[in-house]
Amino acid sequence: MRRDPLDYLATALQTLREEGSYRSLRILDGEQKALTSIDHRLVVNLSSNNYLGLTTHPRLRERAANAIRSLGVGSGSVRTIAGTMDIHMQLERKLAAFKQTEAAVVFQSGFAANAGTVSAILDREDAIVSDELNHASIIDGARLSRATIKVFPHRDADAARRILEALPGSQRKLLITDGVFSMDGDLGALPALCSLAEEFGCIMMVDDAHASGVFGRQGRGTIDHFGLHGRVDVQVGTLSKAIGVLGGYVAGSRSLIEFLYHRARPFLFSTSHPPAVAAACLAAIEVLEMEPALMDRLWANTRFFKDGLVALGFDTGTSESPITPVIVGDTALAMALSDRLFDKGVFAQGIGFPTVPRGRARVRTIVTATHTRDELQFARDCFRDVGTALGVI
Ligand SMILES: Cc1ncc(COP(=O)(O)O)c(C=O)c1O
Repeated sequence: MRRDPLDYLATALQTLREEGSYRSLRILDGEQKALTSIDHRLVVNLSSNNYLGLTTHPRLRERAANAIRSLGVGSGSVRTIAGTMDIHMQLERKLAAFKQTEAAVVFQSGFAANAGTVSAILDREDAIVSDELNHASIIDGARLSRATIKVFPHRDADAARRILEALPGSQRKLLITDGVFSMDGDLGALPALCSLAEEFGCIMMVDDAHASGVFGRQGRGTIDHFGLHGRVDVQVGTLSKAIGVLGGYVAGSRSLIEFLYHRARPFLFSTSHPPAVAAACLAAIEVLEMEPALMDRLWANTRFFKDGLVALGFDTGTSESPITPVIVGDTALAMALSDRLFDKGVFAQGIGFPTVPRGRARVRTIVTATHTRDELQFARDCFRDVGTALGVI
């Protein structure tokens, strides 16, 4: 009988089980909401990126349903052949106006936007200077570009400066940071990095996946929050988190966007969004403009929940956003905390290596605009009880 050439994978999985870091997928029985049924249990959901509750917003539902009726369910092609529909162009124009740039291009996901852009605009002669906690899609894009990758310690602009000083002045350089870091909820060192980019002639790129819909006027992101319009050459965002749907985009100059139309591999080689996705994203940006109360509620809930965890004595790191990690160190402990919370009716995912560095395992929480105070108080009480029982606080 043929030996299974993949049997090393089963061994690797067994190791994960022994380390206590093996995860089964949690399954939503219904909609993605603040209070929902997961694995047949009603839980307060603190694990989604659905910051504003738009995944179930009536305006988005209606526009998506209308688009299905009038335009069908698929685009049928990649963008560069027959898969560019008028609604894709409408969305790109809307995003450019929202981000205050000349143009924007939509990708299938935020991951594709980052990886596709970094790998397209750089090549092996170039250098990438990147925050050590930047998202995996930036890292993969950097590797695909074959440029030299230089990593600076998290948010350390002085260290980034030392790296830039050591690189040849004539070399093309990309300086890149997340706007909001997804596992810690802190903000990138944007103002200092923008100044460095100007001083050293770098391309400045920010991944605002967790900031769009959360920071800045009407959710325009960290560039707007810090007043840096015109100083960031490449702005990436996702349509899959606060926007509530699916996709990613790059906003910037007309020539950047046209170049990506010609060279970004996910744009060239992967089918575009169904029209319903584009329609729902368009509706979401209208909601951001028309319903500022959603962002106000998101931030009020964030303060309430975060302050409660800190008062209980949890280590919430350096978070400045609705992402609040509860850092416990050991992966097995993080998973146990998550599991016991789930048994009590709170879903907050445990996260360990390789998503976060070894020794920095955590339970990550994200509140949304649509959580009620009672739900958040309940979740705080559960954290207190389980945290005490496990000796975390
Ligand atoms: C910082 C960051 N960038 C990019 C992405 C990728 O976005 P998407 O889920 O739309 O692919 C994520 C989300 O997973 C993220 O957290």
